Amino acid sequence: MVTVFKDFIRHLFPRMVLKENLKISYTFCLGGMAFTLFVLLAVSGLLLAMYYQPHADHAYTSILYIEEQVFGGHFLHSLHRTASNLYLLLIFLHTLRVLLTGAYRPPRQMNWLIGFLLLCLALFSGYTGYLLPMDQLALWATQTGMELVRILPLGELFYQFLVPDAVGEPLSLLRFYILHVVVLPMTTVLLCALHFYKIRKQKGALPYL
Ligand code: HEM
Ligand code: HEM
Repeated sequence: MVTVFKDFIRHLFPRMVLKENLKISYTFCLGGMAFTLFVLLAVSGLLLAMYYQPHADHAYTSILYIEEQVFGGHFLHSLHRTASNLYLLLIFLHTLRVLLTGAYRPPRQMNWLIGFLLLCLALFSGYTGYLLPMDQLALWATQTGMELVRILPLGELFYQFLVPDAVGEPLSLLRFYILHVVVLPMTTVLLCALHFYKIRKQKGALPYL
């Protein structure tokens, strides 16, 4: 059993890696840092979810409770918010690095596409999370965003799915919450696995082997 486990761990690593690729100055480890922040977001988000109540009447008071009564609650809340901003920043910088090094070109075009989907998921995660505190800023920002979505092609359909009642009313808050804590993180994990698998298949990041 121990041997099987050891072999499994060994198979997670590539058979060969160019010495060049191990230089931190090449990729600046931006993708790796973005993933680390995603893990931090998942952990802090799960802890917040132990106290947060996704109900129109209780969401804002549960945030106040987290801020004022829960041990380390203020820290946790700020950590989640700051990490979400940094996460987006790192993804943008990672995209810029990929662009500048031409790593979007064949044979890596598929990973460019997966990366683009990851970027969309990250933006949507930030957007859905923004409503959850249910303060005035959250409500009006989300309301503005949803009105903008409405004028896009198929926007009305998307609007009806996300906001069946009105922004901040029970059903819309629940949908934003489920998307934020279940659907989007799970899809992100799956796509990250595919992203990393592709990188491994292509024998690591640039320069090509
Ligand atoms: C498994 C993953 C995640 C879980 C379980 C989770 C959970 C939560 C919960 C329960 C809240 C409401 C409490 C609060 O407002 O602090 C929240 C808020 C928020 N989340 Fe997440 N989250 C996750 C991932 C993410 C990701 C990937 C992002 C970033 C792009 C993100 C961005 C936000 C933002 C911006 C807020 C609003 C913070 C505020 O202004 O109060 N979350 N999240
Ligand atoms: C959650 C978001 C993302 C994570 C966690 C992530 C993670 C990573 C990691 C760890 C690498 C290995 C090399 C490196 O660190 O630069 C990588 C490579 C790559 N990423 Fe991402 N990435 C994300 C988003 C994106 C986005 C938005 C794009 C582009 C639209 C993208 C395109 C690529 C490409 C093309 C490579 C291969 C680069 C090469 O071989 O030099 N990724 N990604």
